[in-house]
Amino acid sequence: MERRPIIAGNWKMFKTGKEAKAYLEAFKPLVASAKAEVYLGVPYTALSIAADVVKGSNVEVGAQNMHDALDGAFTGEISAPMLKDAGATFVILGHSERRHVFGESDAFINKKVKRALSEGLSVVICIGELEQEREDEKTEAVLKQQLDESLADITSQELANVVIAYEPVWAIGTGKTATAEIAEEAHLFCRDYLANRWGKKAAAAMRILYGGSVKPENIAGLMAKPNIDGALVGGASLKPDVFSNIVNY
Ligand code: PGA
Repeated sequence: MERRPIIAGNWKMFKTGKEAKAYLEAFKPLVASAKAEVYLGVPYTALSIAADVVKGSNVEVGAQNMHDALDGAFTGEISAPMLKDAGATFVILGHSERRHVFGESDAFINKKVKRALSEGLSVVICIGELEQEREDEKTEAVLKQQLDESLADITSQELANVVIAYEPVWAIGTGKTATAEIAEEAHLFCRDYLANRWGKKAAAAMRILYGGSVKPENIAGLMAKPNIDGALVGGASLKPDVFSNIVNY
């Protein structure tokens, strides 16, 4: 099965609206003939501006988090309808910084996943083990638990709008990329898990991205692996020339 790769940027808490506009104006022509789908997760405050600039191009703009409720007394939170209104087509959920810095549980992430899908947003769900968990040989158990719980009650129809991002926490922002072999092994584990739960056909169609210190220098080696279908890129997505080199690997 041919899976179209996705190269997704995650700006995290970087860039004002004005900076986003300047970036995207430079970036759009650089990736106009990319064979991969191109996603950018931007800060909430830059969403509308970014969505406006990418209109009519092959760049999709999304958010990096959301709340599961449609509205309510949740000071400081943002809902799926608000993201859609601002022009987001996808949302990144369960990023390791949300899990480990802000204490988000798999159960909370699952509520958000269900809501995002029912509201028509695509979802990039991040999973990945800590360094200690890898050393203790618990990687597969951690991935299984995160997949079990964050994808609880997801139908195979809904699964079509889900992308998995395997991001070993020890590789995020550290410059320590997992080798392509280590990443492939984890991706294969995820693909087998998906096949056991939703069937071979659904699993074969799923895009599984790798994230953690992806750079122009290591993208081709990662993409050469059969179960790596793209990348989620943090630091190296902040400059249009660098990120376009990854997109056009
Ligand atoms: P990094 O971040 O590319 O800076 O390691 C990846 C991520 O957190 O999604």
